Amino acid sequence: MTVENESKNHTKVPVQYIQTLRGGTAHVILFNDGKKYVVKWNATKKDRGREVVNEYIIGKLATLFSLPVIPFEIVYISKEFIENTPELKSNKNNYLSGYQYACIYIENTLVFEDVRQDPPSKSEIKNRDMLAGITVFDQWVNNSDRGTMNVLFEPLVEGGYYVHMIDHGRCFPGRYQWSAQTLSQMPEYNFHWPFYKWVYSNLHDDNELSSFAKKIVNMPNNLIYEVIQSIPQEWDVNTEDRESLYIFLLKQKDELPNILEKIAIYRNTL
Ligand SMILES: Nc1ncnc2c1ncn2[C@@H]1O[C@H](COP(=O)(O)OP(=O)(O)O)[C@@H](O)[C@H]1O
Ligand SMILES: [Mg+2]
Repeated sequence: MTVENESKNHTKVPVQYIQTLRGGTAHVILFNDGKKYVVKWNATKKDRGREVVNEYIIGKLATLFSLPVIPFEIVYISKEFIENTPELKSNKNNYLSGYQYACIYIENTLVFEDVRQDPPSKSEIKNRDMLAGITVFDQWVNNSDRGTMNVLFEPLVEGGYYVHMIDHGRCFPGRYQWSAQTLSQMPEYNFHWPFYKWVYSNLHDDNELSSFAKKIVNMPNNLIYEVIQSIPQEWDVNTEDRESLYIFLLKQKDELPNILEKIAIYRNTL
């Protein structure tokens, strides 16, 4: 079975619309497995043609590195469900039937924005050891949206928090609208943003960043290639664009030492 077939789930069907999340394009929907999912629609907005493609690619790549992306899959939403859901039918966005991205909805979470003034201490972050990885991974894929709303803090019953990465629609040069042409542009990096600054203050030592960079470099290229090949055909990423993305990600492996050097220089100014 190919990665693509594994990812598409036809037995899971939406049963009830629950709510729209802040921002207006992510919707919480109850499925027939009894779980709530955050669903993001492919191709709802003209100028965001690659948003859900990016969610999927980044979710898959981050999973290869065991980074904390929320479990997700591709679900099929029927025309009937949209027709019977006023919030989707009458919305200004264009919600079409077809394959969409869905990740588990986690109840009662905070975002980094909620805690940034008085963030939890190192020992309160259960997966503190993943923070360096999130930061280096984001630079590798040129994430330009790790804002204070795109990091979830899940309070744990035993106390403390688990940090999740969310919202990967805006990545790669060209962002929501990347193409073979935009991928050849020089990336701009945002490693000085508030979330990353907080990460730097939580590192045990400098090696954490460079050892994650090594993990990226050592990731077999065929696995990266498979992720790109597994993007659903229905999402219209042509062969040239897929090849260019693969080449971009390999080129970015070579860029990591330069990026780490820039981060080190920046951290010295803090
Ligand atoms: N899986 C999730 N579980 C709980 N809350 C979520 C989840 N995904 C997103 N959210 C909340 O919804 C908001 C919007 O989701 P996000 O994926 O960032 O969409 P957008 O592209 O509209 O910014 C987030 O800032 C967060 O507060
Ligand atoms: Mg967001």
